[in-house]
Amino acid sequence: MAVTIDLGGKVALITGAGRGIGRETARLIAAAGGRVAIVDLLEDSAKAAAAEIAKSGGQAIGVSADVTKPADALRMVEEALRAFGRLDILVNNAARWTVKPFKDLTPQDYDTDIGIALLGTLHSTRAAVDALVKQGSGRIINVVSDAGRVGEPFLTVYSAAKAGVIGFTKALAKELGRYNITVNAVAPGTTRTPGAQEFIQGVGEEKMVKAYPLRRLGEPRDIASAILFFASDLAGYVTGQILSVSGGYSTAG
Ligand SMILES: NC(=O)c1ccc[n+]([C@@H]2O[C@H](COP(=O)([O-])OP(=O)(O)OC[C@H]3O[C@@H](n4cnc5c(N)ncnc54)[C@H](O)[C@@H]3O)[C@@H](O)[C@H]2O)c1
Repeated sequence: MAVTIDLGGKVALITGAGRGIGRETARLIAAAGGRVAIVDLLEDSAKAAAAEIAKSGGQAIGVSADVTKPADALRMVEEALRAFGRLDILVNNAARWTVKPFKDLTPQDYDTDIGIALLGTLHSTRAAVDALVKQGSGRIINVVSDAGRVGEPFLTVYSAAKAGVIGFTKALAKELGRYNITVNAVAPGTTRTPGAQEFIQGVGEEKMVKAYPLRRLGEPRDIASAILFFASDLAGYVTGQILSVSGGYSTAG
């Protein structure tokens, strides 16, 4: 018996999917037959990512939206529903992080880190949840971080934001299970994306990998693969779980 991941007929909306982990997730979901709404703050990246998928035979739309704004979150879901007629999978992936000692952080930094990762996840989920409940099925996958599980120095507020999303994931899973909606999270370690480039260069990749039992940093494909698992039928009985995809960096329960 061959086991395949088939997302044919399913529709996914991925935030922050113009580049990095989100873009790779869009590619993988499309390769599994899913139709994809690629949402990004930057319209050009969202459209370019959608065009790339269309070029390789998949179906995708690019939507520009700022997940920190509830009205944008509602509009991005409406655009996905208008284009594809349904919504099955929401991937809350958009985030930014401020790397600074806590004593140097400003309230504006708090707004950035908490506003996108935590509040953006709440706004996007709130906008999508009615469609999923009405349908009687759905998958919500939050991209968090090992920083939110074990705490990361110089990423204090980001760690707090991601810990918040972890709590939200667990609580919402308990609330939405009765509607056949699963809610899970993937927690990457440092992953080689455009957004992480400066951080990796600052610390030095050779130095960093020593903290990773598998002795390499993550690639976007590593994280996207775990997201694809949660989106697939293989994970139908898994909810409220946080899966670290970080080469063994964090083994927290
Ligand atoms: N790369 C890492 O080392 C790493 C480690 C742990 C967790 N993560 C998490 O993985 C996810 C993706 O990170 P990445 O490294 O691919 O980031 P990235 O910076 O490469 O890409 C993030 C994308 O999100 C978009 N975005 C930013 N703010 C937005 C907003 N308000 N609304 C809509 N889109 C917005 C950006 O334009 C960008 O295209 C994030 O949740 C991040 O916290 C990344």
